[in-house]
Amino acid sequence: MKVLVVGANGITGKEIVSLLINSQDHKAFAMIRDEKQASTFTNQGAEVVIGDLEQDVSKAVEGMDAIIFAAGSGSKTGDDKTIAIDQNGAKNIIDAAKEQGGKRFIMLSSMGTDAPEQGPEGLQLYLRAKAVADEYLKQSTLQYTIVRPGVLSNDQATGKIDVNNDIEDRSKAISRADVAKVLVECLNQEATIGKTFEILAGRTEIEQALKFTH
Ligand SMILES: NC(=O)c1ccc[n+]([C@@H]2O[C@H](COP(=O)([O-])OP(=O)(O)OC[C@H]3O[C@@H](n4cnc5c(N)ncnc54)[C@H](OP(=O)(O)O)[C@@H]3O)[C@@H](O)[C@H]2O)c1
Repeated sequence: MKVLVVGANGITGKEIVSLLINSQDHKAFAMIRDEKQASTFTNQGAEVVIGDLEQDVSKAVEGMDAIIFAAGSGSKTGDDKTIAIDQNGAKNIIDAAKEQGGKRFIMLSSMGTDAPEQGPEGLQLYLRAKAVADEYLKQSTLQYTIVRPGVLSNDQATGKIDVNNDIEDRSKAISRADVAKVLVECLNQEATIGKTFEILAGRTEIEQALKFTH
């Protein structure tokens, strides 16, 4: 599949691009908003597509079979950017993908998005923005999967996760490298289409853990 990685220059995004480059079945297209970042990806063998979620992104999605959304405004910007990128930026690229027809769309969402009002006060606006984007994706015609990890770490990949009710300790974290593996594995398991699920570091091999969707 031709896979567009949105937020490719992020920590999780870079892991996703590397996994796609090393896979037999997929071709990586890194969506970045600053041309200066391009060589990071072209040197590894990925294609680069310039796109800004706050602008028209229809060209960026053209010809793609799948989109993995791993972008985000981050914690250093204000509420305005949370709405502009995490919510409206996501809706923008969902709309663009819809127009191109029948695309696979894998969303990196967040634990707590199902009940933003129960989250920590400082995170509620972010969780609501992610919830709006997730709901918009669900209502679209796209073949979606929504993956909701807890707190992300920069630890090495373990290749093992717990999913939904198998999660014992919800205060644990999960490495961005493992989240990337889950997002890419969703492409390989069609049964994850139409599913929304939570993940944390855990005990089951990722490929096996996602079989709960079958
Ligand atoms: N932190 C957590 O514990 C946690 C928990 C659950 C879920 N998440 C979700 O996981 C996502 C990925 O996390 P991360 O730490 O890997 O992210 P990250 O390193 O902050 O990367 C985010 C990427 O989004 C890109 N981006 C921002 N605005 C954009 C725009 N207007 N157009 C195109 N791209 C844009 C950034 O581009 P530039 O490089 O150009 O700035 C950056 O490459 C987060 O955004 C969050 O929604 C996080």
